[in-house]
Order: sequence, then C-alpha cells, then structure tokens
Amino acid sequence: MHTHDDAAHTGAAATPSARDWWEARYAERDGIWSGRVNAVLASATWGLPVGRALDLGCGEGGDVVWLAEQGWDVTGIDLSVTALERGSRAAVSAGVEDRTAFVAADLARWDTAARFDLVTASFLQSWPVEIPRADILHRAAGFVAPGGHLLVTAHAAPPHDDLPPALREHRFPSPEDDLGALRLDDGWDVLVAEVRPRTATTPEGDQHEVLDSVVLARRTR
Ligand SMILES: C[S@@+](CC[C@H](N)C(=O)[O-])C[C@H]1O[C@@H](n2cnc3c(N)ncnc32)[C@H](O)[C@@H]1O
Repeated sequence: MHTHDDAAHTGAAATPSARDWWEARYAERDGIWSGRVNAVLASATWGLPVGRALDLGCGEGGDVVWLAEQGWDVTGIDLSVTALERGSRAAVSAGVEDRTAFVAADLARWDTAARFDLVTASFLQSWPVEIPRADILHRAAGFVAPGGHLLVTAHAAPPHDDLPPALREHRFPSPEDDLGALRLDDGWDVLVAEVRPRTATTPEGDQHEVLDSVVLARRTR
C-alpha cells in the first residue's frame, strides 16, 4: 500500500478549484462517506474472477478496500489527499494494504499504460465545480483489458432535497448519457444500462430512495 502524489510525475496540475473544493468538503468532518462498498459495485462484481482493478474518484476508499478484501489488486485515484489518506488507513485496518495503492491525481490528465480487469467509477462527479466527466469516462474505457469489465455508477437524480440553488439546474446523467460519454466501439458488450432505485441512509439515520444510473460493459477484444 502506498500513497503518493503523481502530479510531478505526469506533469499534471489538478484543476485547482476542483481539488480545493473537494479538499474543503473532506475537511468538513472525519469521514464523509459510509466507508462501506457501494451496493452496485458489490453486486456487479460478485463472482467475477479477481485481477487488477482501478477505481476512479475512489474518495475514502470504501470500494477499494472491499475489492481488495475479495482478492483484487486495486488502485484508487482521487483529487483529494485527505480522502486518500483515509482510504490508506482503512486498507491498513482491513489488513489489505498489500493489495491497494492510492494515487492523488486529476483524472482529467492522469494516464497509464497499464490495463485493468475492472475499471469502476462510483459517483465520479464534482458539484458545483465542473470536471470533464465525459472525457474522463471515455478514456477510462481505454484502461480496460480485453475480457475486462467497466462499471459506471452515477446519481440519476438528486440524491437529496437540500441541493443548493446553483445545483438545482444540474443535469444528472442517465445510463444513455453515460453510454454516450463512453463511446464504446463494437469491441464491447453492454451488459447493463439501467436506472436502479436504492434505499440510502443519511448520517442522521433517515432513509430515503435514490436513483442510480448503472452501466456495466465487458470488453470483448
Ligand atoms: C461523490 S465522491 C465519490 C467517492 C467514492 N467513489 C464513493 O463512492 O464513496 C466523488 C469523488 O470524485 C473525486 N473526483 C472528482 N473529480 C475528480 C478528478 N477530476 N480527478 C480525480 N478525482 C476526482 C472527488 O475528489 C471525490 O472523492
């Protein structure tokens, strides 16, 4: 397990406003996500042969740690060093630090020659600061090895009612939007493209229904 900032290595300068926005968000309190795996990821990857996985916008590492616990070798990428440090600590607590790597980078620029058996992006978004999400998703498809899977999970509708005014006009992606962003060629089978309802629990313990856009595709060659 290691955490490093690859900005110098790639020449990448993370979009300062996006990175600052996320750092401020993570600084609000210790742990802004549940630390548990996202339900869509757990069900989509259950039973797949384990291999190398890449988690785009991994946040505090809930999905990274869960995948590593299933036997995957996982690299998580995120803008926020604070979030990645939490992910690293969670990996150590779970005893999976040898199968995890956390990398601070801006996915708008990050690149790799490696190919992965699973590339996943759970709620890779940045409100209210724009990121080139469609371009990031398109390039993510190129990181998948032949025979590997690509999973994109997104909020298909506002996840709660108290969005600030600036976000009320935000366009939440449908599965068709994300398929359009991915621009998969005929070397892919689309296995799932649907909106799934899910019961979410707030930090206060209140439950409400949210809608997830789910796209799962397998690279055939
Ligand atoms: C809503 S959080 C989701 C975190 C995690 N995947 C989860 O489901 O708990 C979105 C994450 O994407 C990251 N992110 C947004 N834009 C990014 C970018 N351009 N490069 C890298 N990470 C980014 C943010 O820092 C944040 O941690």
